[in-house]
Amino acid sequence: MKANEYRELDEKYGAHNYHPLPVVLSKAKGVWVWDVEGNKYIDMLSSYSAINQGHLHPKIVAAAIEQLTRISLSSRAFSNDRMGPYLKKLCEISGMEMALPMNTGAEAVETALKLARRWAYQKMGVPENKGELIVCENNFHGRTTTIISFSSDPGSKKGFGPYTPGFVTIPYNDIKSFENAITPNTIGIMVEPIQGEAGINVPSPGYLKELRRICTEKGILLIIDEIQTGFARTGKMFAFEHDGIKPDILCVGKALGGGLYPVSAALSSREIMSMFTPGSHGSTFGGNPLACAIAEAALDVLIEEKLTKRSTEMGEYFVKKLKEVKTPKIKEIRARGLLIGVEFHLGAKETVRPICEKLMQNGVLAKDTHEKTIRFAPPLTITTDEIDWAMERIKKVFEEY
Ligand SMILES: Cc1ncc(COP(=O)(O)O)c(C=O)c1O
Repeated sequence: MKANEYRELDEKYGAHNYHPLPVVLSKAKGVWVWDVEGNKYIDMLSSYSAINQGHLHPKIVAAAIEQLTRISLSSRAFSNDRMGPYLKKLCEISGMEMALPMNTGAEAVETALKLARRWAYQKMGVPENKGELIVCENNFHGRTTTIISFSSDPGSKKGFGPYTPGFVTIPYNDIKSFENAITPNTIGIMVEPIQGEAGINVPSPGYLKELRRICTEKGILLIIDEIQTGFARTGKMFAFEHDGIKPDILCVGKALGGGLYPVSAALSSREIMSMFTPGSHGSTFGGNPLACAIAEAALDVLIEEKLTKRSTEMGEYFVKKLKEVKTPKIKEIRARGLLIGVEFHLGAKETVRPICEKLMQNGVLAKDTHEKTIRFAPPLTITTDEIDWAMERIKKVFEEY
């Protein structure tokens, strides 16, 4: 079949809840992907940072294949021989004490929300059902009905009410607003270390450190969503490490599955995690042996290949090259590690989509994040030669635009 035939099938039988670029992929390796017609592209999205280790990393693929010869799904009705060793590794890497394994990012966030609410009612003295969690404008934490209840994006939210109460929204990167929003019913704050979907919004240095200080002072929870920023994407294993702090509850997902499988988790201290008792939370697929084998290998690859260091070095190189592009259209480049946003000066109704289409036609797959910003977030295994290959094309497209 031809590309347009696949796209017609998608259009006809698939819900139109995405607006993909017109490219139909059928093969991938490392930073490269190929479409059904054999055209080669460099992947500058990494599936929204879920492929930090590169497409089909041989070690992660081998772990999956080996596990598929033994047992893939056991259910939590029984124990399996993969979950414990994997969770131990995840806890050691993140500096947290316990983890609750789930599948998607939104599930990790839901888990964190439930955990925080129970903690507030059982330990903080917040009256039951009165808890308020502070969140930030332009947040993106997923798509469930509770999570979109505190989204400020009408596209994600409108028409899906009634919404879950118990959330208070403040501006991002604004400590004063946070202090002013705290009441006796405040459970804590949930925050992204960098707002990825909002356009790679990098907060002021020390923002998380200040949040940590205030949360500790007030005895409320700091919940950090590292689903997009975690696992070496920003040059540290977790972005909160840039501020030298630790959250009370941590949400992870995406690259934890090494680009092969949906794997997520909420992590916390032993004391806080003890709020979950048998029957209070769970998932048929969470902690399944296949997921655990893949995630363990995905974590090993991050460490063995020193991908935090690579992310820092390649990020600096990439940004340096982007800054050399001569066009007055670029308004700002925001970056940490290999999470890079290029914001354009555009008219009110204009978006960067036509630029992304041009990039695609030239072999570079990148996608808008918020209408005016293109995100460049390639696999962290990218080399300087591969960045040069991409930059040759990016430069041409940007300068012609
Ligand atoms: C910061 C953040 N949190 C949560 C999610 C939701 O993850 P998922 O799409 O796996 O449910 C995303 C996805 O983009 C994200 O970027």
